[in-house]
Amino acid sequence: MKSKLIDGKEISKQIRQDLKQQTEIFQKETGVLPGLAFILVGENPASEVYVKMKGKACAEVGFHSVTEVLPADISQQELVKLIDAFNNDDKIHGILTQLPLPSHIDEAAVIESIDPKKDVDGFHPVNVGKLLIGLNTFRPCTPAGIQELLIRSGIDPAGKHVVVVGRSNIVGKPIANILVQKKEWANAVVTICHTGAKDLSYYTRQADILVAAVGRAEVITGDMLKEGVVVIDVGVNRVDYPESEKGYILVGDVHFESAEKVASAITPVPGGVGPMTIAMLLANTLQAARQQVSD
Ligand code: GUN
Repeated sequence: MKSKLIDGKEISKQIRQDLKQQTEIFQKETGVLPGLAFILVGENPASEVYVKMKGKACAEVGFHSVTEVLPADISQQELVKLIDAFNNDDKIHGILTQLPLPSHIDEAAVIESIDPKKDVDGFHPVNVGKLLIGLNTFRPCTPAGIQELLIRSGIDPAGKHVVVVGRSNIVGKPIANILVQKKEWANAVVTICHTGAKDLSYYTRQADILVAAVGRAEVITGDMLKEGVVVIDVGVNRVDYPESEKGYILVGDVHFESAEKVASAITPVPGGVGPMTIAMLLANTLQAARQQVSD
């Protein structure tokens, strides 16, 4: 089977162009520029790259953004104090604390200190709860990006079996919550499984749509998939590759070469889900600014 490549880079470009236009209109109507604050703690190289890319994307659509880089040994109290300052800053409509945080900091407490109205990650328990019961709220960015990829590729999950591999609060649980809702571009039968399963392939072989969010390089191979499956690969894993300029390459959680032989459609890594996460962060920030202006 020749599989279709789901081009997240191109789709995210279209979304960012739409958002740029919407931001101009919003600014003309309200005099307000959507504002996003990034908080980066410590020196995690991957997090540094992500935050830089997110800041650049903000500038491109015309948002105001600020980035606070804090030392790895900052106390939780100091971090929460900074978040509280952003909670009370009218120019800031969204706050993003890049995860993971250093181990001495209680991640849950930090997330809870963000005003749910400014929680553009959709990680605050209030927003997680709203998402679960189908109320309007921020969809976490990566799951929102996955749903948007399906919509813009004309792949309707309604009535299909979506198998999610991975149970993180950032991707696995929220994408399952989104796609199981009795709503348009959802209404799927959803199974969540994970690497603790006795036989992972028992589940993955049943997938009409497979979402791989495991965080391990190429653990899902073509022989674990059903002919015609749609593969959404969330993984971004660095593997050593001395011949490349950087000494490593990025691969997904899915072994691309074997999976593309059985899939009807598949996302590449990089250039699939990754760029969509950033586009949806921008969309959530504009949504936050709209809500806060009308409050
Ligand atoms: N770390 C990995 N993905 C994310 C994300 O979507 N948001 C935040 N805040 N941290 C992350």
